Amino acid sequence: MTDADIARVRAEFVDELASVASESDLQALRDKYLGRKNGLVTGLMKAVATAAPAEKPALGRLANELKQEIEQQLGDRRGALEATKAPVSAVDVTLPGRKPLIGHRHPLTIVREQIETIFTRMGYQVLEGPEIEDDYHNFEALNMPAEHPARDMQDTLYLDGTVPGHPARDRSGKRGPERPATLLRTHTSPMQIRYMESHEPPVRIIVPGKVYRRDDLDLTHSPMFQQVEGLVVGERITLADLKGTLTTFLQELFENRTQVLFRPSFFPYTEPSVEVFIGCVFCNGSGCAICKKTGWLEILGSGMVHPSVFEAVGYDPERYTGFAFGVGIERVALLKYGVDDIRLFYDNDLRFLEQFPL
Ligand code: DAH
Repeated sequence: MTDADIARVRAEFVDELASVASESDLQALRDKYLGRKNGLVTGLMKAVATAAPAEKPALGRLANELKQEIEQQLGDRRGALEATKAPVSAVDVTLPGRKPLIGHRHPLTIVREQIETIFTRMGYQVLEGPEIEDDYHNFEALNMPAEHPARDMQDTLYLDGTVPGHPARDRSGKRGPERPATLLRTHTSPMQIRYMESHEPPVRIIVPGKVYRRDDLDLTHSPMFQQVEGLVVGERITLADLKGTLTTFLQELFENRTQVLFRPSFFPYTEPSVEVFIGCVFCNGSGCAICKKTGWLEILGSGMVHPSVFEAVGYDPERYTGFAFGVGIERVALLKYGVDDIRLFYDNDLRFLEQFPL
């Protein structure tokens, strides 16, 4: 064992290092030279142990230097290999893209906005009103006196501590009892009163909003639902205006596919009162279970504003006439989209909601 043996191992190593191309090459090289059992450098170290005592220190130093040098070079080479490696990317650009989830308008919002658009084009103003009402605006001023059945606790949600049938003030302006009945409005009609109390004719408004009734949730009922109220007041407004306006409205809303039928009815705040029907969207008028074989579906209530209502707000009933109407948004949506359960509108199940247009 001589210096030359050490020099030969070094030269061989330098040679082989030059052709290392991968981490596995590098590992093989490390095993070949530094492996514990058969490594060439390990062999040299063992040979030093059996060398002549005079040569031992010098050979030992050389062998040690070689070992350190090899370790150093292997380390450098590993660093260089890692630096040239392509970075591991978190994004696989070959995967198909993920479709972003785009929110949908709720079907009831779609219908409400459609109704608003139709009436806005006809020159109506869109307003909102309070959901907490008093007895006077919800009933009394709309010609529904104290004994009217709609005011019953069975139908109306009264707020705590207030008594049904006790108006804050009566028609002569006299104040009622200390705690006037306060309630969740049962329809949007009280906004007729509120608007006329603070505006002079001509009036042309619609009022969308939530209303509340003491109903259990089932296929066709919900304790909260939405309506759009309409009111037109002026000089010489007639039943013909009501018919023309509502026919235009319903044909636009149901895309000209529908026939419209007007039938006498009764509401305390209109005279005459009219119930409006559309040709059944399910059977095209031939008669089915949903229209109860009549071929017609009731879609809204309306009528000529009752003179008592004008008196309540200080309009002269001799000079002014007008018509009013109320339409249920859920009902329109049920018919327009052929939905058979009102609860679907409130469940917020995406599988249902996603079926409606953006
Ligand atoms: N308020 C009625 C309801 O809740 C709907 C209605 C009928 C409104 C006739 C009106 C009307 O303005 O004139 O069922």
